[in-house]
Amino acid sequence: GAGGPRLPSGAARVAGVIGWPIGHSRSPRLHGTWLAWYGIDGAYVPLPTPPDRADEALRALPALGLVGANVTVPHKERAFRACDTLTDRARRVGAVNTLSITEMGGLHGDSTDGFGFLENLRHGAPGWDVTRGPAVVLGAGGAARAVCAALLEAGAPAVRVLNRTVARAETLVADLDEGGVMTVAPLADAAAALIDAALLVNTTSLGMVGQPSLVLDLAPLPPDALVNDLVYAPLETPLLAAARARGNGVVDGLGMLLHQGRPGFQAWFGVDPEVTPALRRAVLDD
Ligand code: ATR
Repeated sequence: GAGGPRLPSGAARVAGVIGWPIGHSRSPRLHGTWLAWYGIDGAYVPLPTPPDRADEALRALPALGLVGANVTVPHKERAFRACDTLTDRARRVGAVNTLSITEMGGLHGDSTDGFGFLENLRHGAPGWDVTRGPAVVLGAGGAARAVCAALLEAGAPAVRVLNRTVARAETLVADLDEGGVMTVAPLADAAAALIDAALLVNTTSLGMVGQPSLVLDLAPLPPDALVNDLVYAPLETPLLAAARARGNGVVDGLGMLLHQGRPGFQAWFGVDPEVTPALRRAVLDD
């Protein structure tokens, strides 16, 4: 950055992240690194907000003069309902992870997870294109919703949602599918979905530290398919290790976290910040 680190003045712009629990959030480290790099007079703080105080906390953002906030688990749907205005992509996903305070003191909501997902693929697998074949999405939770919406918007020719709870995948498809390009299958029946896939994305928590690992036979997956895991702890999940071992291109999940932060940072502090290897190290270092 140009100016180097600088301490916030009385005129500093303040943003933060609302969630519960918030102690493990990487967002303060992410935005704090960018603020230091660009020498911006600002601050980004954790805002630990228990579920029964979420509405109160959201109303307090403009009252306290914050420029905005990120929203994480379990408040993304609550924040969606609290917004005065929404971006199209937030409306589509039904959740908000980025809030900006308008000049009138209103809450403007955005959903940047899908943007982060696509930018992570664009930077992590240069030349690869979403339009070139079917995408297989494992999981049907909030993360899957953002990923599927982004894939549809980017022109994926087919999106196959595989989930343990099939009914949940059916609801997701009913909410998002407009062109009839989405299908649903049980997580256990992956083979048929993988056979001509161009992309495989894990949005479940399987493979995360402390969680059961993802059991999936990659044999039917074409060798030129790209494999992406949203899990980034560990960075090299068993899924990515298996995909790499058979020669598939792989993209880890950390980049999605970094890129999803860009639209908020730009809105609050006026800079579209860079995602670099140094940023990955800064965000991971404990
Ligand atoms: P997120 O917001 O990160 O998507 P979520 O909404 O809780 O989190 O969704 C978690 C996803 O991981 C779901 O698809 C869930 O499957 P179900 O809908 O069947 O619950 C999936 N998941 C979590 N633990 C799982 C497990 N042990 N086996 C299979 N799928 C699992």
